[in-house]
Amino acid sequence: MNNEISERKKESYKIFNDIAGTYDLLNHTLSFGIDIYWRKKFIKYLPKKESINALDLATGTGDVPLTLIADPRIKKITGLDLSSGMVDIGIEKVKKKGLDKKIFLMLGDGTNIAAADESFDITTISFGIRNFSDPQKSLHEIFRVLKNEGRVMIMEFAIPTNPIVRAVYFFYFRHFLPRIGNLVSKHKDAYTYLNQSVEDFPFGDEFLKLMANAGFTNLKKESLTFGIAMIYIGDKK
Ligand SMILES: C[S@@+](CC[C@H](N)C(=O)[O-])C[C@H]1O[C@@H](n2cnc3c(N)ncnc32)[C@H](O)[C@@H]1O
Repeated sequence: MNNEISERKKESYKIFNDIAGTYDLLNHTLSFGIDIYWRKKFIKYLPKKESINALDLATGTGDVPLTLIADPRIKKITGLDLSSGMVDIGIEKVKKKGLDKKIFLMLGDGTNIAAADESFDITTISFGIRNFSDPQKSLHEIFRVLKNEGRVMIMEFAIPTNPIVRAVYFFYFRHFLPRIGNLVSKHKDAYTYLNQSVEDFPFGDEFLKLMANAGFTNLKKESLTFGIAMIYIGDKK
């Protein structure tokens, strides 16, 4: 892993504090709204359980909890994130929708989860784990806090394999997205970091190996929108 990016990851939450105010707007516009459709994919992979207690790591402004709660099997969701700026915006969104008896967003580290063993039926992370300083440690922690038969569902950017799609993707990610993102968020290089952190992160079968190392089985991956992103599923048996 690139050392400079690896160092920045330790404090990536500070970047998100700086850009929290424009995060939702930029996310939805720069992805042409596809991110909203991607997060809904988690619902398709929910385990067959009547009642689900969920944990969402790197919850940011709460978009995963606010998506998952549409499924009546989800009874409670705890969202953890290291950025107070992101969490505060999330808490306001949850309150506005009257969901504050079901969704609980708070500060918390995805690599050192403040929860007892076997507490949750599912754990989700969307576009968060590549920002963690130690993704493997996080996967071990997720395994620990999941109940037996629990499931982890992770969504993250990937690199498309089709050469034409990949060329367009790299142009967009390396040139267009950093310029617009840095300009609108008024941050000197938050969106340059975003691009670098994606290109530096293992994806596909390489990422499934990290999940297997943590003890997960029944591993699956689904490529989303020409392989721009991937969803990874694993079970604790
Ligand atoms: C790209 S945002 C994703 C937010 C949200 N999941 C979404 O789908 O929009 C990444 C988030 O990871 C958080 N983060 C970075 N390192 C973290 C850590 N070790 N533990 C928890 N959250 C972390 C950042 O603060 C940021 O809010």
